[in-house]
Amino acid sequence: MLEYIINETNKFLEQMPKSKRKKKGQFFTSKETAEFMATMFQLEGLPLEINILDPGTGTGILSAAVVEHLLEADEKRSIHLTCYETDGDVLPVLKNNMVYLLSKAGDRFSYEIREQDYILSQQDDFNETFFASEQQTKYDLIIGNPPYLRVMRDNPAALAMPKVVHGAPNLYFLFASMSLFNLKDNAEMVYIIPRSWTSGAYFKAFRQYFLGEGKLLQIHLFVSRDKVFSSEEVLQETMIVKVKKTQIVPDEVRITSSQSNSDFNEISELKVPYSSVVSGRDLYVYLPTSKEDIDIIQRINTYQKTLPDEGMRMKTGIVVDFRQWDDLRKEPGDHILPLFYSQHIRNGRVNHQPSGKEFDWIIDEKPGLIQRNKNYVFCKRFTAKEERRRLQCGVYLPEDFKEYEYIGTQNKINFVDKTDGSEMDLSTTYGVYALLNSTLFDMYYRILNGSTQVNSTEINSIPVPPAATIARIGEKVIDSNDLSTDNCDRILKEVAYG
Ligand SMILES: C[S@@+](CC[C@H](N)C(=O)[O-])C[C@H]1O[C@@H](n2cnc3c(N)ncnc32)[C@H](O)[C@@H]1O
Repeated sequence: MLEYIINETNKFLEQMPKSKRKKKGQFFTSKETAEFMATMFQLEGLPLEINILDPGTGTGILSAAVVEHLLEADEKRSIHLTCYETDGDVLPVLKNNMVYLLSKAGDRFSYEIREQDYILSQQDDFNETFFASEQQTKYDLIIGNPPYLRVMRDNPAALAMPKVVHGAPNLYFLFASMSLFNLKDNAEMVYIIPRSWTSGAYFKAFRQYFLGEGKLLQIHLFVSRDKVFSSEEVLQETMIVKVKKTQIVPDEVRITSSQSNSDFNEISELKVPYSSVVSGRDLYVYLPTSKEDIDIIQRINTYQKTLPDEGMRMKTGIVVDFRQWDDLRKEPGDHILPLFYSQHIRNGRVNHQPSGKEFDWIIDEKPGLIQRNKNYVFCKRFTAKEERRRLQCGVYLPEDFKEYEYIGTQNKINFVDKTDGSEMDLSTTYGVYALLNSTLFDMYYRILNGSTQVNSTEINSIPVPPAATIARIGEKVIDSNDLSTDNCDRILKEVAYG
């Protein structure tokens, strides 16, 4: 069955330009991924009549994979499949494919295609409004590859699900939330989705709903990152999740990984305590792939409080240079201040040598663009993939730039400052530097965030030792006069993570 549907999909792909499908968030799952996803469900305990949902069915690849798998695995159960699809181009292919499935599966199989918007058609039910249906279909098993499409906050789909939207919405997590809503209690959904939801503020409301009403049982990752869809290059990094609709937190999450979407032969597996995968107030999802990773998460979780709890905060540099050309200068002079770029962070310190940028200076006239010249820890926001560390930081000391009361920071730097605007003392400054410059924090950040960008909200959510311990770490760094990562690691181990 799946073979046939893949062939029909390939014919459809030949005559449908990718640009057109991209606008609809339409990418098809590879045969191997679909087969793998179908085998992820726990079949024990399913009723004799299984209700399956495949929202955003496309040509029916996932439906075919799961129906085929269930029919082969069991000779008694019957299957009813519900498809939702709105795209007029793909619907004729889907209809044909379903007729084919029916002809092969026989009378244990039935289906319906709902040519309705999956989100809008159910918004009253989801929001439990006065118009909610009394009889809502709930499913035993849901399999999905939702559309990946950023939409505006006033898009009808986003307005339909305010509970899970916080910032820029994407159809994929609206679909995932609706699917969890559509599941029966204790039933499972298997979804292939981008990795972006696992951290970041925009996805917080979604994570609260998704991980509140459901619990992660398995996460599957791809080692080579860009090959999830057959003949389709999708830039987003993707993952497969299996989620059970339950309030009961499982002891562990299975984290599996394979080389790519077409190679599920060698699967490595790691069982990770649930609290090491879903953690913190923001419910970030950490993706450890080795015992070492788990150890790192557990070490960091020795503490509960964060930088903001300890009166400090990482912020993003203020000056967006391309918006401020008029205020920037090439040379120093009267009423002109040094402007710092990430190029100025080197070997654990901050210098102001020529950065290679056109403008290394900024006028002092606009208070909103400048900040006091005081102790900070600067951290690069962007690093290249091949670079060894994600967290690259330096101690900024005002005494190195004595003649200035104020300075400027470009927005490609993050800096750590006191929340109340006062100045961090010297030991604390060096202590914060040592944390961010350690192997422990760098590796922890990588497990949290697969991207190369250092997001200050995420840094502000990392548990840190108490302020007094941070200061003690800093004193030791100052005494040793050694800013290297090895030295920071050694001191952290001795003082805070032994
Ligand atoms: C990423 S594709 C996946 C297709 C198929 N599930 C697969 O795995 O190959 C998502 C599908 O959802 C459909 N879709 C997009 N928005 C929809 C909506 N609001 N309601 C129902 N289907 C939708 C698209 O037309 C597209 O076929």
